[in-house]
Amino acid sequence: MPRIYIETYGCQMNVSDSELMLGVLGREGYVRTEDPAEADVLLVNTCAVRDHAEQRVLGRMGELKRYKQPGRVLGVVGCMAQRLGPKLLERVPQVDLVIGPDGYRGLPELIARARDGGERAAEVEFKEWEHYEDVPAVRDNAASGGGGAFVTVQRGCDYRCTFCIVPMTRGPERSRKLADVVGEVTRLAANGTTEVTLLGQTVNSYHDGEHDFADVLRAVGRGAVDGIRRLRFTSPYPTDFTERVLRAMAETPAVCEHVHLPVQSGSSRTLKRMLRRYDRARYLEVVAALRQAVPGIALSTDIIVGFPGETEADFQETLSLVEEVQFDDAFTFKYSVREGTPAVKISDHVDPEVQTERMGRLVALVRRVVRQRNIGLVGTTHEVLVERPARRGDLLQCRTRTNKIALAQGPAEWIGTYRQVRFTGTTGSTFTAWPLEQPAWA
Ligand code: 5AD
Repeated sequence: MPRIYIETYGCQMNVSDSELMLGVLGREGYVRTEDPAEADVLLVNTCAVRDHAEQRVLGRMGELKRYKQPGRVLGVVGCMAQRLGPKLLERVPQVDLVIGPDGYRGLPELIARARDGGERAAEVEFKEWEHYEDVPAVRDNAASGGGGAFVTVQRGCDYRCTFCIVPMTRGPERSRKLADVVGEVTRLAANGTTEVTLLGQTVNSYHDGEHDFADVLRAVGRGAVDGIRRLRFTSPYPTDFTERVLRAMAETPAVCEHVHLPVQSGSSRTLKRMLRRYDRARYLEVVAALRQAVPGIALSTDIIVGFPGETEADFQETLSLVEEVQFDDAFTFKYSVREGTPAVKISDHVDPEVQTERMGRLVALVRRVVRQRNIGLVGTTHEVLVERPARRGDLLQCRTRTNKIALAQGPAEWIGTYRQVRFTGTTGSTFTAWPLEQPAWA
């Protein structure tokens, strides 16, 4: 049986796409291997969102090319493949295939042509109809945690945030049919999946022509699909939380009390230049609406530091927003110029030293805010899903509905099950926890 090795970089949708590729190749008899040395086909599923992500992949290609012996096929897939296309074939001579996010259906054929005819190819056409509906995704349990699965409900992006390369790498937005989503989740549930994370670039703007995101939440999280105990989604766009969606969240018990709500900046002036569809005040309204609809909801965010034209006063607005919202977590990024995005044309690029200095202040503030919130949670009890053995020691890694990570002692048989725990301490970001005698459902 031919063997496929696949390495995945970047976002959860890439994890999900890798599962699709394993499905496409699984139909052809391929089995997965964790060892690149014994692979017939090596794929690197890439990210293009920041230059740093691309540099990491290029470095890794330098290492992987030594496995590229005669008869073996090396491919670069994903967003960086889409962005660079044939240029990547020139740049890395050992690469046979370059395939973008809409081209994975063509993998078997392109692999065969590369192996038999030594043909090198770049397949980077957008296909607005592509949902890989017939492909049986091969779930990667190590990536998505015990009992959890990613389900892509929307591909591509029609928003035009000026910093972002994704519209250029994933093409136009399209939503899967609700019935297809429910069908997939039903099959997952039948195979023991209890937690589903719905994926889309602006997932709450989902619309299949008939149904909106509120319909998806209700269909998957209640009634239609038994056994789905936790429902998550990422990433929503702040202004796409309609009343209907908020009500569906509030009324669907499986929907977890956590939302990742990328703000990007706390300055209305900067948000305007980013072409975000809200200002600071509107974002704060959305936060308030979410907290009202779902009491106890945890909020995390993404923040870009040093967007072109960002002044010290703009940056202060970002700091004060972090303080005001009291996020449970925040991912912070230095602005990275992406060729082909509208922001390239904005002058006043922020000095790298200034970026670094602001980043330092922001990270320190985020740590302080998050730690303070988490210290307040020590002593509270939570239902957790036991996901996997922890990296250190004989502990188990668990996750609350609010997306907090806790380490607890327990037998390996607990993996994939739900338990009640009490938080006993915090490092500032994660928790130690004590399992309570009775499981949640007893
Ligand atoms: N530079 C820095 N960060 C970026 N992101 C997207 N594009 C860029 C860029 N050009 C960040 C945003 C987004 C996250 C996935 O990556 O914060 O939410």
